[in-house]
Amino acid sequence: MTVDEVVKFVDKMVFEKTGKHLDDIQTAVVEGTWKRQTYDSIAREYNLSSSHVGDVGSELWQILSEILHEDIKKTNFRSTFERLNIESSQNPNICIGNNYYYSSQTLNQPNKENDKSNINTESKLSAYDLIFAPEIINFYQRETELEKLFGWIFNQNNRLTSVSGLYGTGKTTLVKRFVDLNLHKFAVVIWRSLKYPQPLELLVTDLLNVCQQQPQATLDKQLKQLFDILTEQKCLIILDDLQNIFITGKFAGQYKVAYQDYQNFFTMITEVKHQSHVIVISQEQCSEMECLDDELYPIKSLELSGLYDVDILQNRGLKNEDHWLQLIDLYAGNFIDLKSVSILINKNYDGQVADFLAENTLQITNQMQSRFGEVFNHLSTPEKEIVLHLSKFDIPITRDYLKEGLNLSVVDFNNGLQSLQQRYLVTKIKNEKILFQLSSVFREYMRKSCQD
Ligand SMILES: Nc1ncnc2c1ncn2[C@@H]1O[C@H](COP(=O)(O)OP(=O)(O)OP(=O)(O)O)[C@@H](O)[C@H]1O
Ligand SMILES: [Mg+2]
Repeated sequence: MTVDEVVKFVDKMVFEKTGKHLDDIQTAVVEGTWKRQTYDSIAREYNLSSSHVGDVGSELWQILSEILHEDIKKTNFRSTFERLNIESSQNPNICIGNNYYYSSQTLNQPNKENDKSNINTESKLSAYDLIFAPEIINFYQRETELEKLFGWIFNQNNRLTSVSGLYGTGKTTLVKRFVDLNLHKFAVVIWRSLKYPQPLELLVTDLLNVCQQQPQATLDKQLKQLFDILTEQKCLIILDDLQNIFITGKFAGQYKVAYQDYQNFFTMITEVKHQSHVIVISQEQCSEMECLDDELYPIKSLELSGLYDVDILQNRGLKNEDHWLQLIDLYAGNFIDLKSVSILINKNYDGQVADFLAENTLQITNQMQSRFGEVFNHLSTPEKEIVLHLSKFDIPITRDYLKEGLNLSVVDFNNGLQSLQQRYLVTKIKNEKILFQLSSVFREYMRKSCQD
């Protein structure tokens, strides 16, 4: 979408609402905001006072919020219009700026009178519950991943999709963006986090309540009720933070006793024929997420790693933009680590990225230390041994070489190595030989904690 197209979009919407076209200052605000300029720099360019530009902006965001039925601000203007543009191009029933009701906000019962954008107008039920989903303000890249999700869900009718990867790689954000772009293609969308997990029975009761069904007495009857809904309409259920239902101190992806029913639930989601979709988001892969045969199983797995794009360091108060990519490389494009190190660079180096990099060390912030401390404690004993040994090597090594240095049985070694890959702590590199290496930031943490 070009800046001229955006100005035209906004002008058309504002004209329909107010009967007036955008004036020069309003146009400057739209253009400048689209280009991510501050009010100060827009004001300088047009020889105006910054406060006047700010006032014009606030008034404009207010008008757009009323038209779109969602909170438009300077900080989410661009992402909202990009989303609206993609959605309008994918769905002919949605037309922007033509008095059509549009909202991506949490709605238990959307206003059907106005909701001409809901393509499921004939469905008996329509329920959107995104209370636990984060609001996305900035969103960069990930077009390929969004296309993949779209294809799996809408073209291939894939019933279970997993999005997995190390903490902070943007899993939750990606899936929420997918939901924002495609909300109205589903009759029901429910987002739940398992950060504080609940037994399956409570989750199913909760899902039925959102769908306005009186839950029956037993779990199997409730599951029958739920699958009836999933069969009759196109629903999307998102379960985030799935790693919390897995056991600590054991190999990856093993369900805690209280949450064992989830395993059967995921199997049912893939095996029973229905027209709905479950997306699970997890830092840890379990066997239900593995797809060994694309044709046979309606399961797909998207593994997410960091994002190598300077945009992700915008608005963090950092200087020396020409060094940003180096910083991103150092922290493997991990959003959470980069946020943490940006705070440190601001506090100790006055935002000078070049000075920070001149130290020539991969610095582990306090926040990273406590996070990796938790990660390490979560591992099984064989995994801890493998990680400790692997952290001694600067370069990737072969499986045999790794095994030689350890006092583990073949079974423990192989299960441990597999499990560490399921947690995205160890990656496999395919060169002439197959090599294994520890995630660089985690390796640095391990080395540091061995010295302490
Ligand atoms: N594509 C993106 N564009 C812009 N910001 C992003 C993007 N992806 C992630 N972020 C930002 O990075 C931060 C971490 O992302 P997110 O919470 O999605 O990671 P996660 O993989 O779900 O982490 P965790 O496993 O800890 O839940 C968020 O604050 C989010 O705003
Ligand atoms: Mg997350």
